[in-house]
Amino acid sequence: MTHTITKYGQPVLEQRAEAITEFDTPELHKLVDDMFDSMYAARGVGLAAPQIGVGKRIAVIDLTTGEDPAQKIVLINPEIVSREGSQTSEEGCLSIPTFREPVTRAQKVTVRAKDASGKEFEMTGEDLLARAFQHETDHLDGTLYISHVSPLKRDLIRRKIRKLQKIGEWG
Ligand code: NI
Repeated sequence: MTHTITKYGQPVLEQRAEAITEFDTPELHKLVDDMFDSMYAARGVGLAAPQIGVGKRIAVIDLTTGEDPAQKIVLINPEIVSREGSQTSEEGCLSIPTFREPVTRAQKVTVRAKDASGKEFEMTGEDLLARAFQHETDHLDGTLYISHVSPLKRDLIRRKIRKLQKIGEWG
């Protein structure tokens, strides 16, 4: 089932999400499936639960946008356990559509998380995957990528969004 993506301005996006304590339940598996459906429908490569209005520590990533089911990644209660190097490139977010800004992130990151059945694993990613790990775990702490751009640019984006809200073109 596909859910509407929450847009910047909705409080759930800027709140710390709650840890998952019960694994391998039908509800959790359905939520994960819904997150993939919603992400693919929106043509994203990553999605955090707050982006469908659910304040839980779950993120999904698929850099192939559904082309290769083996590349689907589910991160529950993720934690970044190591960061190395740095990379800068343009970043966007399904919750802040049409905007993109350069963001500096670690180049290589290891994340520790659980899957939907509760099994703990570690995964190391570089470049775009490392960026996705950082962007999505940030979401679970209520942090959006615009927190990592200059205050000047952030204010400009906020002003533009306020204008879009006024004319009813921001959900
Ligand atoms: Ni995002």
